[in-house]
This record gives sequence, C-alpha cells and structure tokens, in this order.
Amino acid sequence: MACPENMFFLIGLFMSGVLACFGKRDMITTLPDRLDVLTGSCVQIPCAFYIPDQNYYKFNSTILISGVWFKKSPQFGEGLDNVIFNSSETVNRYEGNITGNMSQKNCTTVFFNVTTSSSDKYLFRIESQPFCATDTEKSVDIVVRDLPPSPIITVSGEVKEETAVSLNCSAVAPCPEHPPELIWTLPTQFTPENQLQENPDQTKSVLSTVTFTPSYLHHEKNITCTAVYPVGTINKTAEHTMMLNVSFSPKNTSASISPAGPVLVGSCVNLTCSSTANPPVTNFTWFQISGGNTTQVASGLSYTLNVTVGDGGLYYCEARNSNGLGKSEEEKLAVKGETEIFL
Ligand SMILES: *[C@@H]1O[C@H](CO)[C@@H](O)[C@H](O)[C@H]1NC(C)=O
Ligand SMILES: *[C@@H]1O[C@H](CO)[C@@H](O)[C@H](O)[C@H]1NC(C)=O
Ligand SMILES: *[C@@H]1O[C@H](CO)[C@@H](O)[C@H](O)[C@H]1NC(C)=O
Ligand SMILES: *[C@@H]1O[C@H](CO)[C@@H](O)[C@H](O)[C@H]1NC(C)=O
Ligand SMILES: *[C@@H]1O[C@H](CO)[C@@H](O)[C@H](O)[C@H]1NC(C)=O
Ligand SMILES: *[C@@H]1O[C@H](CO)[C@@H](O)[C@H](O)[C@H]1NC(C)=O
Ligand SMILES: *[C@@H]1O[C@H](CO)[C@@H](O)[C@H](O)[C@H]1NC(C)=O
Ligand SMILES: *[C@@H]1O[C@H](CO)[C@@H](O)[C@H](O)[C@H]1NC(C)=O
Ligand SMILES: *[C@@H]1O[C@H](CO)[C@@H](O)[C@H](O)[C@H]1NC(C)=O
Ligand SMILES: *[C@@H]1O[C@H](CO)[C@@H](O)[C@H](O)[C@H]1NC(C)=O
Ligand SMILES: *[C@@H]1O[C@H](CO)[C@@H](O)[C@H](O)[C@H]1NC(C)=O
Ligand SMILES: *[C@@H]1O[C@H](CO)[C@@H](O)[C@H](O)[C@H]1NC(C)=O
Repeated sequence: MACPENMFFLIGLFMSGVLACFGKRDMITTLPDRLDVLTGSCVQIPCAFYIPDQNYYKFNSTILISGVWFKKSPQFGEGLDNVIFNSSETVNRYEGNITGNMSQKNCTTVFFNVTTSSSDKYLFRIESQPFCATDTEKSVDIVVRDLPPSPIITVSGEVKEETAVSLNCSAVAPCPEHPPELIWTLPTQFTPENQLQENPDQTKSVLSTVTFTPSYLHHEKNITCTAVYPVGTINKTAEHTMMLNVSFSPKNTSASISPAGPVLVGSCVNLTCSSTANPPVTNFTWFQISGGNTTQVASGLSYTLNVTVGDGGLYYCEARNSNGLGKSEEEKLAVKGETEIFL
C-alpha cells in the first residue's frame, strides 16, 4: 500500500473518531442517508466529494483517481477486507460503475443486480497517489427488498364537486435507468403527466400528475396509483389506494308526506325531507305554497302538523350545507272536505 494515509484509514475504522480528534475531516462526501432498492435491480448512489484543505494533502484532480466503496463494518480491524468496489480494478465483488466524473468530484456510482445480502451501510474513499481519503462520518444505508415500496398519492387541497383538483403520485426510482411506470385508476377520464424528478438528496423519483373535475358521483370511489417496476424480464408492482372524499351541495332532495292521502282536519301529518350531501345537511327548511304565496313554515328534518283549515297546499323543503342548497319537488297536502281553491 503506497498510500501513507492508509494507516489512518485503518485506524479510522478501528476507532472511528480518531480523525475527528484532529478537528477536521480530510474529505467530505455528500451521499443520501438511505436508498430503498429492489433485488435484481440496479441502484444509483448520488455521490459528491469535497477536499477541505487541498494544499495539505496535495490533492491533484488530474492524477488518476480510484474510487473505492466498502461496507461500514461494525467489527474492528476489517478495514480494506470490506472493499466491494474499486474503480481501478476490472473485477470487483459488486458489479458496478462510477458514472460521475471524479475529476469534477462527482462519485455517482451505479451497482447492478443487487441482492438482499447487499443491504448495508457503505462508505466512499478516494485514492489519488499520494492522496487518500475517506469520510468515515458519512455513509449511505442501502436497504434491499424483494418488493417495492408503495407509491405516495397527494392531493391539492379540498376535493370539491365541479372544481378541478390535481393529484400527484410519486414513486422512488433508485435505478433511474429503469424507472417505474405509474398507472392511475380513476372513476373518470384523465390525462396523466409523468416526469423523472430529482429529490433534494439527489435521489430520483417518478412523479405523475393528473387533473380532473370531480362530481358528487365520485364521492367514496377509490382511486389507485400503481407503480410498475421492471426488473429483468418481470414486473414488480406496488400500489396506493385512496378513497375520494368529494364535498358537494345537497343532492336528491325530496319531501314526503305521511300519511299520503287526503287527511281530516285535526289529524296529525308528518312531512319529512331527505337529501344526500357532504358535509351533511345543517339546515332543512319547509315552505308552503298557498294562495300563490310561498311562506317559510318550519325548519328541521321533519315537520309535524296537527292539520287545521288552511294547511292544505303544496309543500317543499330546502336542504343546505356549506356548499349550497338543494330544493325538493313540491308535494301536495290535501285536506278532506276542503275545496282546493288555493292550489
Ligand atoms: C497535477 O498532476 C499533473 C500530472 O501529474 C501535473 O502536471 C500538475 O502539475 C499537477 N498539478 C499540481 C497543482 O500539482
Ligand atoms: C484499488 O485499486 C488500485 C489499483 O489496483 C490499488 O492500487 C489500490 O490499493 C486499491 N485500493 C483498495 C482500497 O483496494
Ligand atoms: C460506465 O459509465 C460510463 C459513463 O456513463 C460509460 O461510458 C461506461 O460504458 C460504463 N461502463 C460499464 C462497464 O458499464
Ligand atoms: C454526477 O454524475 C451523474 C452521473 O453521470 C450525473 O447524473 C449528475 O448530474 C452529476 N452530478 C453533478 C452535480 O454534476
Ligand atoms: C471529466 O472532467 C474533466 C475536468 O473537468 C474533463 O477534462 C474530462 O473530459 C471529463 N471526463 C469525462 C469522461 O467527461
Ligand atoms: C443477478 O444475480 C443473480 C444471483 O447472483 C444471478 O443469478 C443473475 O444471473 C444475475 N443477473 C444478472 C443480469 O447479472
Ligand atoms: C405535485 O408536484 C408538483 C411538483 O413537485 C408540486 O408543485 C405540486 O404542488 C404537487 N401537488 C400536489 C397535489 O401535491
Ligand atoms: C376501496 O379501497 C378500500 C381500501 O383499499 C377497500 O377496502 C374497498 O373495498 C375499496 N372499495 C371499492 C368500492 O373498491
Ligand atoms: C411490465 O409492465 C409494462 C408496463 O405496464 C408492460 O408493458 C409489460 O408488458 C409488463 N411486462 C410483463 C412481463 O408483465
Ligand atoms: C289536534 O288539535 C286539536 C285541537 O287543539 C286537538 O283536539 C287534537 O287532539 C289534536 N290532534 C292530535 C292528533 O294531536
Ligand atoms: C316523522 O317522520 C320522521 C322520519 O320518518 C320520524 O323520525 C318522526 O318520528 C315522525 N314524526 C312523527 C310525529 O310521526
Ligand atoms: C336555516 O335556513 C333558513 C332559511 O335560509 C334560515 O332562516 C334559518 O335561520 C336557518 N337556520 C339555521 C340554524 O341556520
């Protein structure tokens, strides 16, 4: 080992914190904290490094740089035995490629065909003779699973009838070369817009946006976003289902009179209003049309009256919630013996 820092490297692994004793890190790497990966797929690790004190270590970016990845070992003393990739070697424990330009301090790396046994924390190291450095304080946690995580649906604000709403579905794309395809299942026509997005930690996600105008008929209907990940010759899928909660003004408002037929003066009659609304109806109001005049006669879901002369006529109800109102058809209350002169 021609690298004088290799001693440090080993000691650093022996007692992580030794380098910190000198009050600085000889290299600072930028890595995502965690990557969720699918078995058999690839993983792209966004990676960048920065040398805080170039003169001291005589880092010269024009000299061939080896990029080395190794497992962060919980055991002491393993050091370089944990190397899984060395860009200067042609055969490595992990099949991969540093796709970033290391002369520009970009150490972005792709590993192919990862397996569950690859789940571990990894550290990055550069070797550019005579300069060698490892940032022992920054590792990336690679979590390999057989099944992809569920995509995430988000909704912009309140879902209200006749008001365009936009929905986002986002799925992680740890292998940006083979991003997932997002498929929506909605109770209406829609046109999705898909894009590959970069997250703040430089990892990638696929985002699909749909905009549609819900009607009250879509209330409590399910919407689903399915992420289809191509892995070799098969597809692996994960989905997120969400029930739509559409807010709408009262619909199907109707009034009923019980008993239905003509009634005698002095008997009891019950008028009941029904309606569907979201949020529920807060206010039912009853109106009587008699002699060409409309009069508000009561409020409440049902209106019970002890029939007197003059109660005959047409009745309707109004249902109200915060979104508006619904009006019922007019229903006739006929009083026996009373001539229908008012109608
Ligand atoms: C970097 O290395 C190249 C090639 O060895 C050399 O020509 C150049 O002078 C070096 N630059 C510095 C700043 O040492
Ligand atoms: C990486 O490969 C180069 C070239 O074979 C070698 O000199 C260096 O020691 C290797 N580094 C590690 C950490 O294995
Ligand atoms: C590694 O990545 C570079 C840059 O993207 C590309 O030119 C090269 O062909 C890749 N090598 C392998 C073995 O995939
Ligand atoms: C680093 O390299 C990767 C892979 O080539 C590239 O996608 C990315 O944009 C580069 N990052 C920067 C900051 O240039
Ligand atoms: C990497 O960056 C260096 C310095 O900016 C540049 O000279 C070189 O052409 C780049 N290499 C590739 C493969 O893009
Ligand atoms: C991926 O790894 C598995 C198990 O190691 C192996 O059977 C398979 O052939 C590999 N696939 C590719 C494309 O390298
Ligand atoms: C959907 O994503 C876009 C882009 O990130 C963002 O501007 C928008 O606010 C998001 N909308 C929702 C409903 O989350
Ligand atoms: C809607 O989704 C929920 C939860 O996934 C499920 O229990 C329910 O059966 C679904 N309803 C319909 C109408 O598909
Ligand atoms: C995988 O999914 C894609 C997109 O949904 C589809 O076109 C393709 O036929 C599927 N392949 C298999 C093997 O199911
Ligand atoms: C209706 O009112 C009359 C007069 O007040 C009363 O005699 C009668 O018992 C009432 N009928 C009912 C069903 O309450
Ligand atoms: C009127 O009808 C409503 C709804 O069916 C019922 O809840 C209420 O008890 C009835 N009132 C009378 C006085 O019959
Ligand atoms: C219900 O609506 C009627 C008619 O608009 C109104 O007069 C009444 O004050 C309302 N009642 C409540 C409790 O909001």
